Amino acid sequence: MRRNIVAGNWKMNNDLSQTEALITELKKQNQTSNCEIMIAPTHTNLWHAFEALRLSDIEVIAQNMHYEDNGAFTGEISAPMLNSVGVTTVILGHSERRAYFKETDAVLAKKVDAALRHNMRVIFCFGEELDDRKAGRQESVVKDQISNGLFHLTEQAWNNIVLAYEPVWAIGTGETASPEQAQEMHQFIRQVLTEQYGNRVGDATSILYGGSVKPSNAAELFAKNDVDGGLIGGASLKAEDFFAIVNAF
Ligand code: PGA
Repeated sequence: MRRNIVAGNWKMNNDLSQTEALITELKKQNQTSNCEIMIAPTHTNLWHAFEALRLSDIEVIAQNMHYEDNGAFTGEISAPMLNSVGVTTVILGHSERRAYFKETDAVLAKKVDAALRHNMRVIFCFGEELDDRKAGRQESVVKDQISNGLFHLTEQAWNNIVLAYEPVWAIGTGETASPEQAQEMHQFIRQVLTEQYGNRVGDATSILYGGSVKPSNAAELFAKNDVDGGLIGGASLKAEDFFAIVNAF
């Protein structure tokens, strides 16, 4: 069975003291839940977050990494560095990385390989822009992103891949895909996976939805058959809202 996951992407928010404060709040909220819970603080606070959440059910994950293990790549961070502070899951291909830092499918494929080489789990993000949806080409855009970034992988490698469908027009805009739009796309993605790798991968791969998920819409989205959780930006910055989303499962 595939896992349900709610992951908070803090993006470039929260310095050390804000991170401490939010983690204190998260620990107060955290009771038993029906999904895996993850938070992705900024790199400088990963070690602190990992230590502070060591005995909790909340996994600390990274927002990005480079594909090389080390070397002359000023400002970058690598999989072994993340592993050394206890991080074993990384978000790759977020639309902000693609848009502002020009990360291409080819670069992302290398990052995925590097993460898997170091036994990390990858949350691989993709999604169409508003123009794509208006032109009705959202499915082909998404299929290209998935196949260019991930279809070189073996079937076995998919044990460590989680997908996150994030329509760019819904990220940080307050505009959410309707549960029906999300379900339609998630079902399409699962079909694409099944065609390429067979039923086992199609059925077992978790597909998260991201883009303005909030306490008021999470339950409806998560109730859809092919929606296995969410990647949460803005609403993950308030412990109460984040846990209202977690408890939507
Ligand atoms: P949002 O961000 O929830 O603020 O729309 C989602 C994301 O970028 O992962």
